[in-house]
Amino acid sequence: MGEPRLIDRHRAVLPSWMALFYDDPIEIVHGHGRRVTDSNGKTYLDFFAGILTNAIGYDVAEISDAVRKQLDTGILHTSTLYLIRSQVELAERIARLSGIPDAKVFFTNSGTEANETALMLATQYRRSNQVLALRNSYHGRAFATVGVTGNRGWSASSLSPVKVSYVHGGYRYRSPFAALSDADYIAACTDDLRDVLQTGTSGDVACMIAEPIQGVGGFSLPPDGLFGSFAEVLAEHGILFISDEVQTGWGRTGGDFWGIQAHGVTPDLMTFAKGLGNGLAIGGVVARGEIMDSLGASSISTFGGNPVSTVGARAVLDYLLDHDLQANAATLGAKLIDGLRAVAAKHPVVGDVRGKGLMVGIELVEPGGMTPSPAAAMTVLEETRRHGLLVGKGGLHNNVIRLAPPMTLTAEELAEALDILAAAVAAADGTTRDGAK
Ligand SMILES: Cc1ncc(COP(=O)(O)O)c(C=O)c1O
Repeated sequence: MGEPRLIDRHRAVLPSWMALFYDDPIEIVHGHGRRVTDSNGKTYLDFFAGILTNAIGYDVAEISDAVRKQLDTGILHTSTLYLIRSQVELAERIARLSGIPDAKVFFTNSGTEANETALMLATQYRRSNQVLALRNSYHGRAFATVGVTGNRGWSASSLSPVKVSYVHGGYRYRSPFAALSDADYIAACTDDLRDVLQTGTSGDVACMIAEPIQGVGGFSLPPDGLFGSFAEVLAEHGILFISDEVQTGWGRTGGDFWGIQAHGVTPDLMTFAKGLGNGLAIGGVVARGEIMDSLGASSISTFGGNPVSTVGARAVLDYLLDHDLQANAATLGAKLIDGLRAVAAKHPVVGDVRGKGLMVGIELVEPGGMTPSPAAAMTVLEETRRHGLLVGKGGLHNNVIRLAPPMTLTAEELAEALDILAAAVAAADGTTRDGAK
């Protein structure tokens, strides 16, 4: 009898609904740059970055040094009862970067808490519990955030403090309006929004919450301008707009620092998490001051904005801006999409390649149609791993491969990943890399 395997110990004490990737899940024990090593000594190029969280990559001296310096003070935590210099400075920077006028920031430990806070602020400010969300959305794992999550696979409960109405728009590939031009698609979704307001609500809606690019939903995105068009309708009714930037923030989408900027909208509130800490637990809300200050009771997050996470996040922001990683995401992201479209042209198992910057999805289908193929996605996941590349998987039908490497990616690493992806896609439709049987 040997030692029990880690996977068996995991299954014995951790919840069954916390899914693991791979038939034979891996334990990552070391990382540097964009590469990680597992407990068997196999090294991988990482194109999922801990679900878009290791935005800069692994073992980044500037971030480690900043955190180490804080540890050396002996202070890991003080609580928000006392002034925290790094928290104030980080809030000042995020307020400025947000473009939201008179902005204030509240720090949390996760994206879920950030969205819960934003929903509480909007519903209190507007004195209404009615919320609009998008089909195929994902906003978190607590009651209000599950309540605005439009994906059966992530909806564990129907209990919700908000009354939600879902609108079309985020997932174009399988939308009833998919065949329309960009302008007509935007017009159709905006008409649907007006219709939902008339038929699904009792008038005083508090807010709309939306991801500029749906993350869990398979990196699906509407044409630029959709949320600008929505915002005009929302403004007619005084409805607030919350942009969930948990996946799309900090320049990942390349063209813009926030995903929502592609739509020509300044939201009333934005939420963020994941990439800001490069692995440290930090999230938050940035909102117009009068909205942020509208809570009529005290509220704190014990750990939110603690000295370690805010010192680390400050170093992450410095790194992002000093190295212009947004520009790198734009340049390499465009190459990634071009390379994948060339692969797709040879392999009908690829139904759609989409995304922006370093946030790119490959939707896999039964060749010859649009039927989702989760089996093909599983093959790509396992094959890429076999060849030393970690990728993500998701989408409403679990048939989308998600690519989101650290934003420090190099052109050589991109070429390496494209080569592995081409081989994995070929394996998924049982052809050679040229598409021949
Ligand atoms: C868009 C979006 N919002 C919110 C969340 C929830 O964040 P967390 O898992 O940190 O609670 C996620 C997590 O994947 C997300 O992708």
